[in-house]
Amino acid sequence: MSQKKILLLPGDGIGHEISKEVEKLIEWFNINHSLNFEINKASIGGESIDKYDEPLTDKVLSEAFDSDAILLGAVGGPKWEGLPFEQRPERGLLKIRKELDLFANFRPAIVFDSLKGSSSLKEEIINGLDIMIIRELTSGIYFGEPRGIESISDKVKKGYNTLVYTSDQIERIAKVGFETSMKRSKKLCSVDKANVLESTELWREVVVETSKSFPEVELSHMYVDNASMQLVRDPKQFDVIVTTNMFGDILSDCASMLTGSLGMLPSASLGKFDKKINNRRAMYEPVHGSAPDIAGKNIANPLAMIQSLGMMLEYSFNETNLCVTLKKAISNILNQGYRTKDIATDKCKRILSTSDMGDAIINELGKLK
Ligand code: IPM
Ligand code: MG
Repeated sequence: MSQKKILLLPGDGIGHEISKEVEKLIEWFNINHSLNFEINKASIGGESIDKYDEPLTDKVLSEAFDSDAILLGAVGGPKWEGLPFEQRPERGLLKIRKELDLFANFRPAIVFDSLKGSSSLKEEIINGLDIMIIRELTSGIYFGEPRGIESISDKVKKGYNTLVYTSDQIERIAKVGFETSMKRSKKLCSVDKANVLESTELWREVVVETSKSFPEVELSHMYVDNASMQLVRDPKQFDVIVTTNMFGDILSDCASMLTGSLGMLPSASLGKFDKKINNRRAMYEPVHGSAPDIAGKNIANPLAMIQSLGMMLEYSFNETNLCVTLKKAISNILNQGYRTKDIATDKCKRILSTSDMGDAIINELGKLK
């Protein structure tokens, strides 16, 4: 493998400790599987605000453009909550997604066999669950104009955002949905609110139009309120879901909790092919947040971050076998009864710290080699 530049953005809270485990793993892969990753670390979110007064500097953004892939921990925390909107940690995350045009966000919700008892739902409902939520990530109400808060009289203020989608924005994410379905069970559910919102009436129209190029895929449509209910009632009816930015934000949190282990779920955000890196633009991050309440205690679960590395190996660098091996190592460790605190049960053999979990995965990888 020629040298690949990875930009590691640990961010805030537990972001640092989980990133450390991923660094260890990357070094291990470099040595043991002749990979050639060079890691460059930089700040985003609250850490960047503390150092440079802004959540994402131009320097880090240009480093992002120079990198073959980005790994991000998590951003945010109570320390920065009182800041004006534009200066909050989350703006750094939204900016990097937007600037790199990472429009397709893949959020798998997978139940590990050994963790099926951790879900709040009955085992038979979630046993073997494996869904992929594809969330549009750079348009919709998150970025629509006009937006703002303004006074409309002495006593009354108005806050507003705009849910806007153009047909080309819908078409490109719909295609990703269909292409992903083709590689899985050829079933795609598009989630909208076409009965109320014109922008998602257009969404449905464009998805139907796009489906003509994918005749093998069985397409269904669902309103978002029904979809949230169906996800809890019978999640296994879904395989791939494609939806808007905000609906995807909400539904992916709901789906992640079906697995009983938010601390386990990775995500990939992909953009267009870029000649400069001869690859698609891509950023990988855990679905969970920065968990400031447990930060610095070495108890956070690093497995979502480690699985984000797995997605990076597969999606950006075609190292699908290594991704599979990494998954196998994780499931072996879980099967042996090792857990971090967040997924621990009475039956587990030993509760591991963040760094011990990283070491256990590396040790297991050594055995699988
Ligand atoms: C997510 C998060 C972000 C989002 C926040 C932190 C800006 O909730 O990645 O799901 O809303 O997209
Ligand atoms: Mg979210």
